[in-house]
Parts: sequence; structure tokens; C-alpha cells
Amino acid sequence: MKLNTKKFIRGKINEIKREVGSDVAICATSGGVDSMVCTFLAHRALGKNLIALFIDDGLMRENEPQMVSKILKKKGIKTVIIRAAKDFFKALKGKEDPEEMRKAFRDIFYKTLGKTVRKYRTNYLIQGTIAADVVETKGKIKSQHNVLSQIGISPKKYGLSIIEPLVKLYKPDVRKVGKALGLPKIIYQRMPFPGPGLATRVVGEVTPGRVKILRKATSIIEKETKKLKPFQAFAVLLNDRATGVKKGKRAFGNIIVIRSVESKNAMTAQPTKIPYTILEKIQKKIVREIPEVTKVLYDVTPKPPSTIEYI
Ligand code: XMP
Repeated sequence: MKLNTKKFIRGKINEIKREVGSDVAICATSGGVDSMVCTFLAHRALGKNLIALFIDDGLMRENEPQMVSKILKKKGIKTVIIRAAKDFFKALKGKEDPEEMRKAFRDIFYKTLGKTVRKYRTNYLIQGTIAADVVETKGKIKSQHNVLSQIGISPKKYGLSIIEPLVKLYKPDVRKVGKALGLPKIIYQRMPFPGPGLATRVVGEVTPGRVKILRKATSIIEKETKKLKPFQAFAVLLNDRATGVKKGKRAFGNIIVIRSVESKNAMTAQPTKIPYTILEKIQKKIVREIPEVTKVLYDVTPKPPSTIEYI
């Protein structure tokens, strides 16, 4: 059914106002489309009583904390940045199983939110969970970081009362709401970026060193595929190595996968037909600029049978 954007926004503003009253609420803002739309919506409802909480978990893309806080501040949204990379890497240490990693991320994520919410003497957490997140988590495909009550985990465990204004929407409608709320185009049109960030693209242990390699490769791939406007394009770091030759010497280095897909709502996806010249350019840049990488691959698998992310 076609979404009546104006009516939706009006309805959600009223709902949030009614629920939070004159209290303060915290919005978990990662900079992704969903959380940014949610933050702008909640700001319309609560004004100064809304705090956007940006957790710098060490798993973000290049310059993300600076870019996101600049946009929020420009809009006059109270923004708090928590530097929590150490806690997140500690929680993920030694974990290689994808679902174990996802659950560890979810736990430290809500613990961090719970702590902050208590600091501001409230228990209201507003978050941008959307329909696809719930479907995949309930379908046991993967545990999305922002789904709790729908799978029987009480938010009370973390001292939270959760509000999810976008939970019935899929991505195209979320973008429409973002546009109607006056978000900058670069935000409501940007590629989806998962809450657990680069951790969903590291196969094997998530360490600061491995994330650094991935972050650099991600930035190269995003830049070089920008004009193709893919639904999502990013780098993946495999938990394997390959022999190469660097500066005339043998090197047993890391393997980066280029993943780029076309999709409407992320429930199914097709690989992007990236022109070979662009693939070559990406490959050259990655092996030149990231000394630890000796091999670059291109993933041509649709969803299903694959998923978009790697864990
Ligand atoms: P998959 O990998 O399941 O991804 O095909 C479908 C879409 O969801 C995003 N994704 C997530 N988003 N929290 C999020 O907020 C998560 O834990 C998460 N896992 C995957 C993914 O980027 C894609 O757009």
C-alpha cells in the first residue's frame, strides 16, 4: 500500500509526544538512513528534549562521526558522542562465529545505551528499527543488532523503554519520510549501513588492525562505484590469506572482496554489473594503498542464496 508520508509523520509525532510526555528521550543515531530519519522525526516531536546519541564504536566508516555530528548540530539537534571503541573491541575479542559476534555486538550496544539513558535520568530510547530488520531476525537469518522485544528479549534487561516509529516501513518508504522531513539528500539517499558497522564485513575476529584495513578498502570502493549509484557497495575482509608479491618480495597477505548489490528493500538483491575497468581501478588502488592486501575478488552472488553482508 502506498504510504501517505505526511499523515505518517503527523501520526508518529503525536505518538512519540504522547509516550514521552515532558521527559527526555535518547535516540540511537548511527548515521545510517534509518537512524537519521528516526532522529529527525523524534526531534520534530520532542525538540530540546531529544538527545541524539552517537556511539563511536570503532566500527564506522572513514570520517563518519564528524560528518554525522555536523549534520545533527546544524539542524539544532542536541548530540552526544560516546567514545566506546575499546568496549566494543573487547566484547568482540576472540569471537569468530557470525551469530556470536552479532549477539555480542547487540549486548554491548544496549549496555552502552542503557548506561547513557540512565545518565540523562530517563528510560526512553528511540531507535530506527525497520521491517526488514525484524523479518530477518525473527526468520533466524541473522540477529540484527536492533531487534529485542520481537524475539522475546525484554528491553527492561537494559533499563530501557523502546520506541520504534519506523518498524512497519521498508527502506523505500523510510527514504520518502526522510525526504519529507527535510534531511539532506546525501543522507536519505545514502547506501544502507548496518548498525554493527564494519563488523558485518569482517569474517573472523574483529580487531582494530583488521577493521583499519577494511575501512580503507571500503572508502576506495565507495568512491569508485559512486557514479553507478548501487544500492550498497562495500569491501569485505576474508579470514583467509593468499600469497602475493609486493615490492619484489613474497607476501602472504589479506584478501578483500568487492561486494556491490542492487535491491529495493534488501530482502532480495542482485550483484551490480560493475564495468571491468572500474573493477580493475579498484583492485589497483586497494593493493597499492593497503600494503596488507595481496588479493582482490569480486562477489557475483545474488541474495538468495547469499545475504548482502558477510556475517
Ligand atoms: P543481509 O546481510 O541480511 O542484509 O542481506 C540486509 C540489509 O540489512 C542490513 N543489515 C543490518 N542493518 N543492523 C542493521 O541495522 C544489522 O544488524 C544488520 N545486518 C544487516 C544490510 O546492510 C542490508 O542492507
